[in-house]
Amino acid sequence: MTEQPLPYKSFDPSTFREKPVSFVRRSGRMTPSQERAWNDHHAKYVLDIPHGPAATSVADGAHGDPEQIFGRRAPLVVEVGSGQGHAILHAAEQRPDTNFLAIEVFRAGLARTMIRAELAGLENLRLAEVNAPELLEKYLPAGSVDEIWVFFPDPWAKARHHKRRLVSADFARIARQALREGGVLRLATDWEDYAEQMREVLDAADGFERDFAGEWAERFEGRVLTAFEKKGADKGRAIRDLAYRRL
Ligand SMILES: C[S@@+](CC[C@H](N)C(=O)[O-])C[C@H]1O[C@@H](n2cnc3c(N)ncnc32)[C@H](O)[C@@H]1O
Repeated sequence: MTEQPLPYKSFDPSTFREKPVSFVRRSGRMTPSQERAWNDHHAKYVLDIPHGPAATSVADGAHGDPEQIFGRRAPLVVEVGSGQGHAILHAAEQRPDTNFLAIEVFRAGLARTMIRAELAGLENLRLAEVNAPELLEKYLPAGSVDEIWVFFPDPWAKARHHKRRLVSADFARIARQALREGGVLRLATDWEDYAEQMREVLDAADGFERDFAGEWAERFEGRVLTAFEKKGADKGRAIRDLAYRRL
């Protein structure tokens, strides 16, 4: 019998990231109205960020200047994993003097955010369709962010998936770099062991101090109820808020 060559699997290793990402990109098709909103308005809202090898990566050397992006100098709040945009839309409406940047890899979520931003006539909101830690680490200038929000990040509940959790020692390092001195990282989750992990990681992180007394932070009053929070609460899970100030 002649020896068969081993099947050759071609792949380009440069398309694989060094670190696991905290999302699985949903192919989730957009509705016709989302598709329309995306086509009509993405140039106005979505940052034009050069990608690296992966579709949601940020190319090395890509930089953004918040003053140029928003056309003005103002405090900057960045939401990581904004979903359908409920929290950031509400905040952007309430605080016209602040700039808001929503980072989300789920395009249909961004399209929904855009539809509501248009209806509300918001001028202080921009969107980014990229892996959030890369944007915070590479694209934004160090010390340029006043607040980072991470509300109900994907829990990656199974132990073998914990390495995919967004909030890690590495994320703490990246958040610290992006935040200005005195800036705040706000987090919320309905997964108790993730809340404990967040607290452990951030208590141990250099350059942060707790911005709450007692076991957990008070519910952040700018945080609106989202479907994810409601689902957790309906299942009887406690909702945990955390806040850490950048030293
Ligand atoms: C469980 S949902 C919560 C959405 C929203 N914060 C809320 O409370 O309704 C988590 C969202 O984070 C997004 N996400 C996860 N990892 C991300 C990352 N590394 N960069 C950008 N978005 C991410 C997911 O696509 C998903 O929409």
